[in-house]
Amino acid sequence: MPNLLADLRRINGPGHVLTESDVVAGYATDWTRRYAGHAACVVRPGSTSQVSDVVRACAAHGAQVITQGGNTGLVGGSVPSPATSEPARVILSTRRLASLGPVDLAAAQVTAGAGVTIARLAAHAASAGLRYGVDLASRDSATVGGTIATNAGGIHTIRYGSTRSQLVGLTAVLADGSVVGNLSGLTAGDNGYDLGHLLTGSEGTLAVITEARLLLRPAEPAAAVLFCGLAGIAETAELTGRLKSTVPGLLAAEYVDAAGLTLAREAFGLPSPLNSRHPGYLLAEIAGTHGPRDVADYLAELTEPLSLPADTVIAQDARGMAALWAYRERLTEAIATAGIPHKIDVAVPADELGTFSAELNGVVRAAARSNGACASRAGPGPGPGDPPLVIVFGHVGVGNLHVNVLGPDPADTRVDAAVARLAAAHGGSVAAEHGVGRAKTEWLAWTKSPAEIAAMRAIKKALDPAGLLNPGVLLPPAVPPSS
Ligand code: FAD
Ligand code: MLT
Ligand code: ZN
Repeated sequence: MPNLLADLRRINGPGHVLTESDVVAGYATDWTRRYAGHAACVVRPGSTSQVSDVVRACAAHGAQVITQGGNTGLVGGSVPSPATSEPARVILSTRRLASLGPVDLAAAQVTAGAGVTIARLAAHAASAGLRYGVDLASRDSATVGGTIATNAGGIHTIRYGSTRSQLVGLTAVLADGSVVGNLSGLTAGDNGYDLGHLLTGSEGTLAVITEARLLLRPAEPAAAVLFCGLAGIAETAELTGRLKSTVPGLLAAEYVDAAGLTLAREAFGLPSPLNSRHPGYLLAEIAGTHGPRDVADYLAELTEPLSLPADTVIAQDARGMAALWAYRERLTEAIATAGIPHKIDVAVPADELGTFSAELNGVVRAAARSNGACASRAGPGPGPGDPPLVIVFGHVGVGNLHVNVLGPDPADTRVDAAVARLAAAHGGSVAAEHGVGRAKTEWLAWTKSPAEIAAMRAIKKALDPAGLLNPGVLLPPAVPPSS
């Protein structure tokens, strides 16, 4: 260990190898406070060549490398395992990989360091009259590298696709310290295996991404935000389908259920957005692609084909639009103030959303009962003996729901597994935009075939034969459990 620390100090400079236990503990605890682990140190390399030297040094000492960007991940992938035994674990923070190249207007592309935040990237693109296609409420901390490694989605996935659709090239350091990749931005000159897209969604298990070449889009500023009161998720999915096929420039279609709206209103003292309460709500954002016509007039013309619900508000000024977005964007924070949630990020086919949702509460309650019901109160959430509080929201336009459950002991995973099982039973996915992390490895076999998992293992073994990059993340244990 002293030799490893000495090597890391020599590579990065002593100020960029952090060993104070409280500082390391901050990096070793995730955003949700549900996952925490142990690491010998945090190392903060400032260039691709320093990352390469760090990875080589860790490999030489048999130390594991846990790559971390903004540490906003929600599935425990950005923090080390809680085991205290050997081998040593090193958290490699990418926050100093913060170079941001000029916007290439001819190609509508930009090269960004892995540690650049999404907010900074978005502002940089906007200063050149363009936009970055991925946006998410964690934008002030989430990084380019972290969003590639998780294939992050976000609020504009319905329009521009997930992070994979923005990636033109990258540079990365493999487990043996070799540097691979291509930042040329040439979209027509590719051949062979696409390493960039292989690393997208690899959650730090195959390489450390150090830079990326990213596609930018025309600015398309929002012209209107609709907020509609609906009878639930099935009706929301139906209306979303009509909007998708009728309205050009649909930028976002987001769902919030009644419990979520109540929690966000209580946490931040927000007024009611509509005249009445409803079981569910759709927030839709529409770009100004309708020429000189007022978007409200345009939507009014579409009222019949769209059947917009009677209790709908439309905001068209920046302040009004931001006020409506607050009910959706501040929800994660509101939930965190109420306790440590079980967060189950799943995808469900649009025509199954209604039945999934109808069965959800029963499944959660049954799993929570087998848990011994709710744990101690950790905020304004449920207390001992109370039924669990289920909050559902998410990116309904792409069938991506975030099921949050407050109450059951955060250390008990039965509620999480039950919800993931339900999603799989409805033809969905046990993991969606947040990735698999440490939280979901055991469930992967519910939606991926043995052959697919074997192929993933073969890739991992080929690129990281010693298993030093983020072990315990993404890949299921060798023998999947029976349930
Ligand atoms: P981290 O949390 O640091 O790491 C996440 C994973 O990526 C880990 O496995 C880590 O090892 C790996 N990793 C990080 N950097 C690199 C790198 N350079 N090379 C290789 N591997 C790396 N997610 C969404 O998809 N959509 C949302 O709408 C969304 N909203 C959110 C809102 C809030 C308030 C919060 C707290 C989180 C939200 N998230 C969302 C989750 C999170 O922001 C994303 O998963 C994001 O992509 C993580 O980026 P990060 O830089 O924080 O990565
Ligand atoms: C969101 O869409 O707001 C995020 O994915 C965060 C969350 O699931 O809490
Ligand atoms: Zn989300």
